[in-house]
Amino acid sequence: MLAVTFQSLRRVAVETVPDPVLLGSGDAIVRVERSAVCGSDMHVFHGRETGIDAGCVMGHEFLGEVVEAGPDAGVAVGTRVVSPFTTSCGGCRFCRIGLTCRCVSGALFGWVAGGIGLPGAQAEAVRVPLARSTLVPVPDGVDPDAALLCGDVLATGFFCAENGAVGPGDTVAVVGLGPVGLSAVLGAVHRGAARVLAVDDVPERLAVAGRLGGEPVDRSAVDPLEVVRDATDGAGADVVLEAVGHPSAARLAVDLVRPGGTVSSVGVHTAPSFPFSPVEAYDKNLTFAIGRCPARRLAEPLLELLRREEIDVSPLVTHRMPLADAVRAYDRFDRREDGCIKIVLEP
Ligand SMILES: NC(=O)c1ccc[n+]([C@@H]2O[C@H](COP(=O)([O-])OP(=O)(O)OC[C@H]3O[C@@H](n4cnc5c(N)ncnc54)[C@H](O)[C@@H]3O)[C@@H](O)[C@H]2O)c1
Ligand SMILES: [Zn+2]
Ligand SMILES: [Zn+2]
Repeated sequence: MLAVTFQSLRRVAVETVPDPVLLGSGDAIVRVERSAVCGSDMHVFHGRETGIDAGCVMGHEFLGEVVEAGPDAGVAVGTRVVSPFTTSCGGCRFCRIGLTCRCVSGALFGWVAGGIGLPGAQAEAVRVPLARSTLVPVPDGVDPDAALLCGDVLATGFFCAENGAVGPGDTVAVVGLGPVGLSAVLGAVHRGAARVLAVDDVPERLAVAGRLGGEPVDRSAVDPLEVVRDATDGAGADVVLEAVGHPSAARLAVDLVRPGGTVSSVGVHTAPSFPFSPVEAYDKNLTFAIGRCPARRLAEPLLELLRREEIDVSPLVTHRMPLADAVRAYDRFDRREDGCIKIVLEP
């Protein structure tokens, strides 16, 4: 089959690799109808995250049809499914408290290091271990692109708002308006935030934030700190949602939040330390919430919101490209070329 593989720093390739096969009784093979390129793929691409094997199949966002299922897979051949970006068992302590991303037997798609791990989904097919408790059937009537986003970025944006305990009437700032940050705008609006100040410097992304209920703040034209202070009588935002994964964004988030407020961070921070000191956190009575999204827990409720048409994620998918053009897709996503927000790859 065709698959996108990691080669070396800033190099991915579309190659022919062996078809996946069932390895365990709980495995399923999914024929990928769509996968997507994610900001997280860029950490590997640019070498900010290291250790992945050359030749590892990339990608962790996918939707498709179950074409083979082991006897314990718990999902019928022919079912259309979306997958969270990690597998989970559904029964361990962490799965039971809804922290499916920390499942003791879970794995991240598209991460094979030293021969150990789970090949990814930017491919024509993918093997899914723990299929029964990982895969989520896509309800009829939900647009497949929207459903695809429930496995990662949409879930992550909503998780960011949840982890920040955004509540009715809050003034929220969102730092970074990639697919994750834009989903965080939606999540904050959905939780009843009174104002959602959405910070980035990419014009197309600022415009989409406006369509989703946010107030665009172009950091290349205005000082976000001044905008947030003006909006809050000088106090700062109740909650700041950070969706970048760069020290500059974490620093801005801590500057924007009010004393006693919460910074909720879902950006993957690969720098060795936080760009704020313990005493700064102390002096602000800061709550700092951070971590990977338990997408398995969020996917089902999000699919239901989509089915009821309570949220509209259509502005997020801006490009669809053939899987065979993935090298160009990585480059386009990386450069944010041509108003690119989310690229869907079709085998
Ligand atoms: N926690 C999780 O489970 C999880 C899941 C998915 C993605 N992520 C992470 O979320 C982050 C965002 O992913 P994405 O796909 O939206 O990425 P992206 O690269 O498309 O978006 C990042 C955006 O941040 C903006 N930006 C950069 N520096 C900024 C700053 N200092 N202030 C304001 N905006 C700034 C960029 O212009 C860009 O629009 C990545 O770090 C990714 O790895 C985490
Ligand atoms: Zn992702
Ligand atoms: Zn588990």
